[in-house]
Amino acid sequence: MAATGSEQTGSKAFYVSTPIYYVNDAPHLGHAYTTVAGDVLSRWHRQRGEKVWYLTGTDEHGQKIMRTAEANGVSPQEWCDRLVEEAWKPLWEHLDIANDDFIRTTEQRHTDRVREFVQDLYDRGEIYQGGYEGPYCVGCEEYKTTGELLDGEGDFAGQKLCPIHKKPVEMLKEENYFFKLSEYGPKLLEHYEANPGFIQPESARNEVVNFVRQGLEDLSISRSTFDWGVKVPWDDKHVIYVWIDALLNYATAVGYGTDQARFEGTFPADVHLVGKDILRFHAVIWPAMLMANGLPLPGRIAANGWLMVGGEKMSKSNLTGISPQQLTEHFGVDAYRWYFLRAIAFGQDGSFSWEDFTARYTSELANDYGNLASRVAAMIGKYFGGELPEATAHGEAEDAIVAGLEKAVATADERIGEELDFSGGIAAVFEFIKQVNGYLTEQEPWKVAKDKSDEGQARLATILRTAAEALRACAVLLNPVMPESSQKLWESLGAEPHLGPLAEQRVPDAAKWNQLATGSTVTKGAVLFPRLPEPKE
Ligand code: ME8
Ligand code: MG
Repeated sequence: MAATGSEQTGSKAFYVSTPIYYVNDAPHLGHAYTTVAGDVLSRWHRQRGEKVWYLTGTDEHGQKIMRTAEANGVSPQEWCDRLVEEAWKPLWEHLDIANDDFIRTTEQRHTDRVREFVQDLYDRGEIYQGGYEGPYCVGCEEYKTTGELLDGEGDFAGQKLCPIHKKPVEMLKEENYFFKLSEYGPKLLEHYEANPGFIQPESARNEVVNFVRQGLEDLSISRSTFDWGVKVPWDDKHVIYVWIDALLNYATAVGYGTDQARFEGTFPADVHLVGKDILRFHAVIWPAMLMANGLPLPGRIAANGWLMVGGEKMSKSNLTGISPQQLTEHFGVDAYRWYFLRAIAFGQDGSFSWEDFTARYTSELANDYGNLASRVAAMIGKYFGGELPEATAHGEAEDAIVAGLEKAVATADERIGEELDFSGGIAAVFEFIKQVNGYLTEQEPWKVAKDKSDEGQARLATILRTAAEALRACAVLLNPVMPESSQKLWESLGAEPHLGPLAEQRVPDAAKWNQLATGSTVTKGAVLFPRLPEPKE
């Protein structure tokens, strides 16, 4: 299959993916972290007016899933169906994830194409038969090198442990099919060199470059000791290695081998979001697979850091004991979406704490933002009967707000839309919110209101109109992060009848001044971020 031509780029969708998660258990905070980030990124690009495709899904083959199903006394397929329908899809819905598709690796639209892809590689002489013996981590579904293993202690004394899962590895010896990965080292290094933004952040890029420089080994791409997987097309005693199967979801979900127009209009991904635990699969194996089959490479592999618990990566066996649903029940879905992206620099590790979440919620969401919205609406209600006044006395103080907004829009667009610096982008909007609060403190509209002269009333109208315009822009800029509260604000400002739906407001236009219609009905709607309930014991 030929590489997509550059003439397609004009019509190509901005394509964002999450990892497809293992369904051996229910989703936890770590999975939700990457998926929310992808949702914010895709919503941001949609609000730039771009065509966007946001893909997530589940990884359902391999030993890990098979063993979990066995332990639960059901077939692997039954196990996957249950987890997907009862745990994974409901959480994404609950968190307002607006994915365009959900791919499951047990779907025929996927498995048929995986077989074709691997057959193509075989036909091109990229695959050969060989043997391998080495330590294998079922948690990672990956052969490990002896050097990276840890020495077990306590229960695991005398055993070698996976550095990520901290569990004993198993010695595996198999006759397998191998992909000639080792031949792709130089081409990969060339690609990293020519495309400095290909792996993000810098620390991740350095790690991958160093790894590839040491020389790559060929990759075992089949398994013959169990059968929960996609059968190798030319040898049905083997199933395809779960990582080869899984990585191909990014192609099979967008029409690879079935709908060439759709494929070319979507593939390759602009951003593959991954956790740094699975960086090498995406930054080394995946591009090598694509090169081997003459397909174009993704734009960027962006690795998020780890949410940590007690100094360790949060994982299924090592949870905070707190589920995403428990946090949303207490803080609300919007605050949940906002918190992890706001509090942790994307790409770096971070810890969650109930105290930090509470403090940030109270100061930034409830006090700075929520209060601003309700005060402004209340004053327009009180002084202008809820009719949005015109700004007839626009002066220097208002110019400063307009300038502050222009800066916030430009910064947020660069940080979120380009750099995937979610915390920097959100901070830019909240700095603007602080500026607007400072403006009201200085202008004291509640005092100006007592001045019944024409000048006094013109100033009062101008101050409140200015604050309302500022809030209009906040609703637009925060909609990708917090769609529910942004919609409430949009309604409270009476913006929709004149400006249309919030999701159709364009980020690049957000700083255009005086977009609200004079005379529109401003209502003091529901409180955006209510006072938090007492924490449960
Ligand atoms: O690796 N902090 O699936 P998986 C941040 N099926 N992110 C975390 C996290 C944490 N503590 N824990 C999990 C797989 N994640 C494969 C992927 S893709 C072709 C196949 C997120 O269920 C993060 O994105 O183990 C990480 O890479 C992913 O969940 C791993 O999910
Ligand atoms: Mg994992």
